[in-house]
Amino acid sequence: MPVKWEKSKYSLKARQFLAKQPEDFPLFTLLDGAVRSGKTLNIIQKIPQLFDAIGNDNLKVFSGYSKSTVRNNVIIELKPFIENYMGGNLKYNSSSGEMEITLWGKVYPCLVVGGGDSDSVASIQGGTWDFWYANELPQHHYSFYNMALSRLTPANAKAFADSNPESSNHWLYQEKIKPYLEGDKNVRDVFEYWHFTMKDNANLSPTFIRNQEKLYQGAFKARKIDGLWIVADGLVYDTFNRNKHVIPHSIMLDKILKNDIIEYFLGIDWGWNHPTACLLFGTDKDGAYYLIDELYSPKIEAENVICWIEQKQKEYGRFFSFANCDNARPEQNDKLRQNTNLVIYEEKPKVEDSISLVRGLINYDKVIVSDICKATLGEFETYRYPSDAEKTKNGISSDNADTPLKVNDDCMDALRYALYKHLTTFRRK
Ligand SMILES: Nc1ncnc2c1ncn2[C@@H]1O[C@H](COP(=O)(O)OP(=O)(O)O)[C@@H](O)[C@H]1O
Ligand SMILES: [Mg+2]
Repeated sequence: MPVKWEKSKYSLKARQFLAKQPEDFPLFTLLDGAVRSGKTLNIIQKIPQLFDAIGNDNLKVFSGYSKSTVRNNVIIELKPFIENYMGGNLKYNSSSGEMEITLWGKVYPCLVVGGGDSDSVASIQGGTWDFWYANELPQHHYSFYNMALSRLTPANAKAFADSNPESSNHWLYQEKIKPYLEGDKNVRDVFEYWHFTMKDNANLSPTFIRNQEKLYQGAFKARKIDGLWIVADGLVYDTFNRNKHVIPHSIMLDKILKNDIIEYFLGIDWGWNHPTACLLFGTDKDGAYYLIDELYSPKIEAENVICWIEQKQKEYGRFFSFANCDNARPEQNDKLRQNTNLVIYEEKPKVEDSISLVRGLINYDKVIVSDICKATLGEFETYRYPSDAEKTKNGISSDNADTPLKVNDDCMDALRYALYKHLTTFRRK
């Protein structure tokens, strides 16, 4: 049900935002905070005035995780607002994403695009924009966000974004919000930050707010209700997000066929009762890592792994260059050395060092996983640090506080071995 704007109520924060003149906003303004705090509707209300100030010489872009999230979160409110309250018109072609907004006799060409998938950057290469609205910005890929900012070249261009908080490891927090809060001058020159709580939305009843508060717990409560950027309780890779970081295997196969993936390599964690995990990675020229396939099974021998590697080289039609393996089983590694065409390394990286490298990749959306890698996907979402109680129980000293629990970590170990080796050996500048 679209909002009845004639009944709107305004908090002080909302009034301050709405009263600010378009030319007084910097290049990029972020509204973040609690769910339902009015972030999206405040931006929607500002659009007619912003468009009028910016003019219609260039394209205006609306993005979200996908075109349909933009439609459901934004256009559904923007269209009736423009047409019933502003006397304008909004035409939207949901298949092409083209949108035309007419206000006070002027036509503004707009485009709606999804920024949440790892290839979305390709859809916005080229062209000049003078306005960008990113709905739910943390759901966009880092490469899309950078490309979008680089499109905003006109002197009067403005970007607005809204977001719910995520992990404090997320690129948006690390690159913009944290330096802004710390008073970084370079960031403050181009970026403004508005933080909203549910109290800043005068249209919500106290009962509604109380009910929302009961929906969330732990880190999610802190993020969605209190609007804080905090790390999820204990998860090692807490910015891993299935929406952004998993693609259908058919799309992975396309990338292989198109030669987007330029090098193939493996990480192997040997087990017996615990499963053996063997992960096949590829990398592209932009430094993204693709987890293409996994072998995950208890009680398998080196011969099974060798067979799997041979079969996968045939299946994907590519040679794999190396494997970095768990050094606890040198005899297995020797068998690989003698029976495959791969260079076999046995370099076990330190847990903290390799985790921080992998985490850096994930935080910046540079790890993309095929949906067939079920065991790895499960581990991404459960691999965690021990709680204080578990530390005491297992006698973990504070020196080892950065070591995750050693359960369900077989794929996570294989992943560390593979990525650490590639990053430290082949990507060294
Ligand atoms: N100006 C307004 N007038 C009337 N209702 C509003 C207004 N702003 C927000 N609301 C109400 O609050 C809800 C949440 O606002 P929204 O902008 O979607 O929040 P957020 O983007 O922060 O999650 C809306 O669905 C609407 O019911
Ligand atoms: Mg919103």
